[in-house]
Amino acid sequence: MKLLDLYAKMKGDLNQIEQELEHSVSDDHVLLSDASLHLLKAGGKRIRPIFVLLAGKFGDYRLDVMKLVAVPLELIHMASLVHDDVIDDADTRRGQLTVKSKWDNRIAMYTGDYIHGKALSIASQLPNPQIHQILSNALVQMCIGEMEQIRDFFNTGQSVRHYLRRIRRKTALLIAISCKLGAVAAETDRKTANQLYRYGYNVGMAFQIRDDLLDLYGTEKQIGKPPGSDMRQGNITLPVILALKDKRARETLLLEIASIRDNGGQKDAGRAIEIIRKSEGGDLADQLANRYIKKAFQALEGLPNVAAKKNLIDIAHFVGKRNY
Ligand code: IPE
Ligand code: IPE
Ligand code: MG
Ligand code: MG
Ligand code: MG
Repeated sequence: MKLLDLYAKMKGDLNQIEQELEHSVSDDHVLLSDASLHLLKAGGKRIRPIFVLLAGKFGDYRLDVMKLVAVPLELIHMASLVHDDVIDDADTRRGQLTVKSKWDNRIAMYTGDYIHGKALSIASQLPNPQIHQILSNALVQMCIGEMEQIRDFFNTGQSVRHYLRRIRRKTALLIAISCKLGAVAAETDRKTANQLYRYGYNVGMAFQIRDDLLDLYGTEKQIGKPPGSDMRQGNITLPVILALKDKRARETLLLEIASIRDNGGQKDAGRAIEIIRKSEGGDLADQLANRYIKKAFQALEGLPNVAAKKNLIDIAHFVGKRNY
């Protein structure tokens, strides 16, 4: 089943999530609401709510409870995007102007905080303190991941391990807990919730590796923003680390990266990207993403054969190959 078919199948519940998302950021303050709705209406895959809902299908699925997890997770994700675009100095997202570009950085900081506050307000209706602990831990880790990325800009000596630890924090954990909290909210047994966490973690790792590949290999139409921004910014991602290990690419790539750094990120990253594309970095990164997808499948083994299990397998396939 394709992702689009899955949307069609889950349409009723996803529509309710969508309404709730819209409702949650409307009406407090014109500017904060406008900026939030601008991002919300620009689209997005809503993959985190989908994970919450599918994980919930392994337990006692009640949409009114599932919503209290699915909506905050998408809101936390959205808030992180608004802030991420400030940090990454990005002008487009989801094919539209970013909040920081349409308005400005100050407004983006508070829009992110506002969306975040809304996430907390909805999640506060959940009585289980474990959920709140898991959520706050993931947020702390996300901040650490983003900070490490800033610290590691232009660090061409970083290891694959280092990169993996960073993306685990900045991306994979939020996807992992989307799966876990969907299960916890539906009161599955602990083993099921942990297996779903493991599934989400592995899909999340592949998700960010593919995101980083898309920044180097994708088109603006596919990714909704100009490619090459990671490179221009000095964000050394997995394909770059692996390209630097490729003897044919290493020396010229190092020179190009140094030149981008010395030009304060103003330089076109086209040459660096060309070198990476000719190296084995992309293929090797792709292989690692696929290893994570395989691990995600393994994590599902032993779970009951509810229909959602097949959907999770399909999503993992999609993430392994995604080009948007
Ligand atoms: C973008 O996430 C940020 C990453 C963690 C890579 P998504 O690719 O899920 O963004 P939307 O929500 O679909 O726009
Ligand atoms: C993911 O990284 C961002 C967060 C975890 C907030 P990116 O910076 O690569 O995300 P995009 O590519 O801008 O969506
Ligand atoms: Mg970014
Ligand atoms: Mg970023
Ligand atoms: Mg990216």
